[in-house]
Amino acid sequence: MSAVRFLLNGTPCSEDGAPPSMTVLDWLRTRAHLTGTKEGCAEGDCGACTIVLGRRIDGSLQLRAVNSCLMMLPQIDNCAVLTVEGLAGPDGALHPVQQALVDADATQCGFCTPGFVMAMFAFHHGGEPADTAIVHEALAGNLCRCTGYRPIAAACRRVAHGPADRFVAELPALADALSALPVGVDYHYGEQTFLAPRSLAALFAAMVQVPDAILLAGGTDLGLRISKDREALPLVISLEAVDELRRITPAADAIEIGGAVTYTDALPYLDRHFPSFGALVRRIGSRQIRNLGTIAGNLATASPIGDTIPCLIALDATVTLASRTGQRVLPVESFVTGYRNSALAAGEVIAAIRIPLLAAGQDFAAYKVCKRFDQDISTVVAAFRLERRGGKVAELRAAFGGLAARAMRARNLEGAVKGRPWAPAWLADIDALLARDFTPIADHRGGAAYRLRAAAGLLRRFQLETSLAEPMRVEAL
Ligand SMILES: Cc1cc2nc3c(=O)[nH]c(=O)nc-3n(C[C@H](O)[C@H](O)[C@H](O)COP(=O)(O)OP(=O)(O)OC[C@H]3O[C@@H](n4cnc5c(N)ncnc54)[C@H](O)[C@@H]3O)c2cc1C
Ligand code: FES
Ligand code: FES
Repeated sequence: MSAVRFLLNGTPCSEDGAPPSMTVLDWLRTRAHLTGTKEGCAEGDCGACTIVLGRRIDGSLQLRAVNSCLMMLPQIDNCAVLTVEGLAGPDGALHPVQQALVDADATQCGFCTPGFVMAMFAFHHGGEPADTAIVHEALAGNLCRCTGYRPIAAACRRVAHGPADRFVAELPALADALSALPVGVDYHYGEQTFLAPRSLAALFAAMVQVPDAILLAGGTDLGLRISKDREALPLVISLEAVDELRRITPAADAIEIGGAVTYTDALPYLDRHFPSFGALVRRIGSRQIRNLGTIAGNLATASPIGDTIPCLIALDATVTLASRTGQRVLPVESFVTGYRNSALAAGEVIAAIRIPLLAAGQDFAAYKVCKRFDQDISTVVAAFRLERRGGKVAELRAAFGGLAARAMRARNLEGAVKGRPWAPAWLADIDALLARDFTPIADHRGGAAYRLRAAAGLLRRFQLETSLAEPMRVEAL
């Protein structure tokens, strides 16, 4: 048995008397009495609970904003936890981020302000420019009901271009202090167990030791069962620290993304090889969500509106499932077997997802339709990989989410277009072809007819975008 050990605003802390299912937010507010961090929605949407976690990566501290309402307490083991109470100087001088919010008149009731402060603190330390789109993205995970976003965004722009605060001098000491903490948590409280193995071998041993345990990666899906549904989740094995699962392996013809790699860490690779996949991932939740959530978790959840799944299917990605006795490789397409069902067997873990790079003559694009741009679950997701030879379609892989109980390819449509010129002529048939492939559900996000029309519209858009002299996205026109 080990305690959860971390640094709280620089001070070493140890906790062994709280249930692991207590959220970090509840622990901060009720045990540490740091009530600056607020609970707004308890489901990762509002950002009022934003804190910044520092993790030691290659000797220095990597700072990232996360939603404390979704995190189980042991997930902060070995982290430097920064809350709004820890930003002002010892003499009470406001942090530059706090001062910028004051100067821009960017707070009224103040309920959302601590969350904005922490999101902006992470942005400040990221050294990003004051670019409107980047500021928008950095703040998309924080909601304000009263001030309006213009002054908040103005304050954020003032603290762009990198850190100029006392933390510049203090972070190396924090990183050293973290390195002095024991690594790996083996936490028990009453009937509850939370294990965080650090290697695949240790993971498989833990899965034998606690065969009924739930695997937890970032917890952005599982965390809702605790924060919203108030489940205890008594037996949990965290994948977050498993070294082999945290790797991204670029190869000549593919990239391999480990089963515990966060969206944020995968993004530079997606941006380089599949920019449109990267742009779509930037619309999954918010930075706070993407700093915790993983592609493997999205795949394992097997939701019909999981945004990455159509992309992985269209790109002909494969998934490596590992267990104590060996491993098997499946196309992502056959991994997802039904509504929130997958081929993952007991004792198996998603070790990696392998995405083949685009070959010469191939185009790829992904699209998300939802009711608002940020922080929204998809109504329809579409991903297309097109291969042309001599102006004709050699292969089209067209995968859709939101049209059936699981993300899947439009086989009738793909078959009908094969060998035909990539020209608008055949597009007249696509509504009928899609209707043969899918019988969508209707719910509050969209009716069946709307979903089919949206899906057809996205294919028309892809045809247009790939038929211009210079391939481009419609947004750029
Ligand atoms: C506010 C909010 C907004 C969101 N927005 C979007 C969105 O826009 N689009 C979208 O698609 N999703 C969205 N999500 C859902 C969620 O972020 C994703 O599904 C996420 O990718 C899940 O990954 P995770 O690491 O957090 O998984 P976890 O919550 O840790 O786990 C989810 C499931 O996957 C299993 N699992 C995780 N990793 C592995 C592995 N390596 N091997 C085997 N099983 C594994 C777990 O056992 C569990 O059953 C949102 C969630 C929130 C809270
Ligand atoms: S309380 Fe709203 S995101 Fe955590
Ligand atoms: S200042 Fe009131 S919610 Fe933002």
